[in-house]
Amino acid sequence: MNDPMNATPSLAPRPQVEIALGARSYGIHIGAGLLESPASYAGLPRAAAALIVSNTTVGPLYAQRLAAALAPHYPQLHTLALPDGEAYKNWDTLNLIFSTLLERGCDRQTVLFALGGGVVGDLSGFAAACYMRGVPFVQIPTTLLAQVDSSVGGKTGINHPLGKNMIGAFYQPQRVICDLDSLRTLPARELSAGLAEVIKYGPIADMAFFDWVETHLDALLARAPQALAHAVQRSCEIKAAVVGQDERESGLRAILNFGHTFGHAIEAGLGYGRWLHGEAVGCGMVLAARLSQLQGGVDESFVQRLIALIARAGLPTVAPLLDANDNLGRYLALMRVDKKAEAGAIKFVLLDRPGSAQLCRVPDELLARALALHGARA
Ligand code: NAD
Ligand code: GLY
Repeated sequence: MNDPMNATPSLAPRPQVEIALGARSYGIHIGAGLLESPASYAGLPRAAAALIVSNTTVGPLYAQRLAAALAPHYPQLHTLALPDGEAYKNWDTLNLIFSTLLERGCDRQTVLFALGGGVVGDLSGFAAACYMRGVPFVQIPTTLLAQVDSSVGGKTGINHPLGKNMIGAFYQPQRVICDLDSLRTLPARELSAGLAEVIKYGPIADMAFFDWVETHLDALLARAPQALAHAVQRSCEIKAAVVGQDERESGLRAILNFGHTFGHAIEAGLGYGRWLHGEAVGCGMVLAARLSQLQGGVDESFVQRLIALIARAGLPTVAPLLDANDNLGRYLALMRVDKKAEAGAIKFVLLDRPGSAQLCRVPDELLARALALHGARA
């Protein structure tokens, strides 16, 4: 009888992108049909048990197919469907994962498979980092946003009512498997949200990619397979280069948060889930580009070009009113609860030129001007 525990681990497939982190290095596999191919899982840590963590939307679509592909590798396969939504990225949901692992008698070799978008990925990764002080996990991102960003680089965690992603750990997956076919079932609004993070990589690192996104945006919106494949691969390459140099965000990695300081404030200020993460980031990039222009890093034509692309992607470009009496004050209060803040001083990722970003402090007057130009009125 075939005993997966004693089987010689078969050779891992060749990844499209490599995250180079010494002993914690891993591959990002990008292609069609990967999720249901047993070969995608060759060479991963073997164990008696694996847990597929998904949610009530993605689980019914893909968990059975994933389970069939994993069956040759793991004798006991458990599945868990978390409640769906950013509002559930919290302690209670995290605890559901721990309870399932404990109730099923899962040991410290158990492998977690995160099947879903960034919410499932961040929750599962954090659970994997904590359960028995760390078990292996694999990311199987099924949203564009998760394929181009959240599944890569090892940031895991949950929200706190007082701040977005405030509790978490750096914990790298064993592998990331981006099945482009899974994007076919993604709602259009979620596709647009993912495009925000794709657009982000151009202004901070690669204007040739920005040009490419401008040219191919209609193909991306139409989910043309070749366009999606290139967008996912180039985004992951850029992120891999950044994470490879600064895994724990002591400096450079912060550039990946372009648009996120405003974005996180919008998400927390409106209540998690009202605006999608990618929508808040899209709008946040408008404000960050404006601050960059006010500081002299980019010119007006670049700001207008970025706004036009964000709008074409189906994303909001006008910042919501968070407080009719003191909108700036509310934004400032929310942005102070940001992981980049130091001693209460807010820091923004701003462009010093198109294709290059750095972390900066900004006087409140400039924030007020940016919000006046790009914010909703009372
Ligand atoms: P999400 O995980 O909420 O997924 C979006 C929606 O799409 C959900 O309703 C989900 O059930 C559904 N869905 C997922 N895949 C589907 C599919 N293939 N077909 C149909 N429906 C599908 O949101 P997201 O945009 O993927 O991720 C956002 C989260 O990621 C935020 O919490 C954000 O903070 C986090 N994030 C983390 C990092 C990181 O580095 N860890 C980076 C960026 C964002
Ligand atoms: N999404 C930002 C980061 O991974 O650092």
